[in-house]
Amino acid sequence: MGKRLTIHDIVDFKSRGEPIAALAAYDYFTAKFIDRAGADIILIGDSMNMVVYGEETTLTLDLEQSIYHTRAVARAVERALVVGDMPFLSYQPSPRDAVFSAGELIRAGAQAVKLEGGRAFLDHIGAILDAGIPVMGHLGMTPQSFHKFGGYRLVGKDAEEASRVLDAAIALTEAGVFSIVLEKIPSALARKITETVDIPIIGIGAGPYCDGQILVVNDILGLFDDFSPKFARKYADLAGIITESAANFVQDVKNKEFPNKSESYK
Ligand code: KIV
Repeated sequence: MGKRLTIHDIVDFKSRGEPIAALAAYDYFTAKFIDRAGADIILIGDSMNMVVYGEETTLTLDLEQSIYHTRAVARAVERALVVGDMPFLSYQPSPRDAVFSAGELIRAGAQAVKLEGGRAFLDHIGAILDAGIPVMGHLGMTPQSFHKFGGYRLVGKDAEEASRVLDAAIALTEAGVFSIVLEKIPSALARKITETVDIPIIGIGAGPYCDGQILVVNDILGLFDDFSPKFARKYADLAGIITESAANFVQDVKNKEFPNKSESYK
C-alpha cells in the first residue's frame, strides 16, 4: 500500500485550506495514471454501473461488482486515499448489513467507504465506525434515491429542502464521518455547509466554495456517448480518440496493411 494518504491527511487539507482533488475511477490502469497525476482521493464509485456497465442508474450494481473493482483500483494506487462505494441495498436494510458490506470493501483494499443518505442512516454509520471503518457521507442529489427525487434534479433549491441538507450534514459530522460529498446542490448552500462543518466537503455540481471537487474520470476524459452533466469539465476526447483509432485499425486490416513485416515473427 506504500505511503497512501489517510483520512487524517484529507482532514488536514481543510485545516490548511488546500483544495482536495478527487476522482471516481474503476479499473487498474486508469487508477494508476490518475494516482500518478496527483489525485488526492480515488473513489470506486457506484457510477461505474452507468459508465462501465452501461446501465441507466446506479441501482442495479451489487456489492460483488463494487468489491471486484475496488480490488483492481487498490492494487494500482500508491498515494491517493482509496474509498469504496456502498451499492444500493448493501447497507440500507440494517446496521449489521452495513458493517459486513463495508468490511468487504475494506478487505478489497479500500481505506474508507462512502454511503448515501442523511439522518435515516446515522445508526448504520455509527455501526460501521464502531467496526473501525472510516465513512464518507454523501448528501444532496443522491443517485440511489433517483426515483424519490424523480430524476437527477437539483436538490436544496427551496428553503425547506436546503435546511434538511444542512441539518443532515451537521448530523453526519457529529456522527463522525471524515468527509461529505455534496452532489448537485446550489453553490450558496454548499458554501454554507462548507463553512458550518469542520470536516472536508467535496462537491460535484455543488459550485466552487467546497473544500474539494470530485468528478467521474470518464466525464473528464470525454469517454461517454451522448450524456455529460453540466458540472463536468471535459479535458480530453477519448470517445473520439477510441473511435478514430479503432476505425484506422479496421481500415488497415481491410486493406491488408496490418500486420506489416516488423509486426510479424520470422
Ligand atoms: O458513484 C460516484 O462516482 C459518486 C461520485 C460521483 C461522488 O458517488
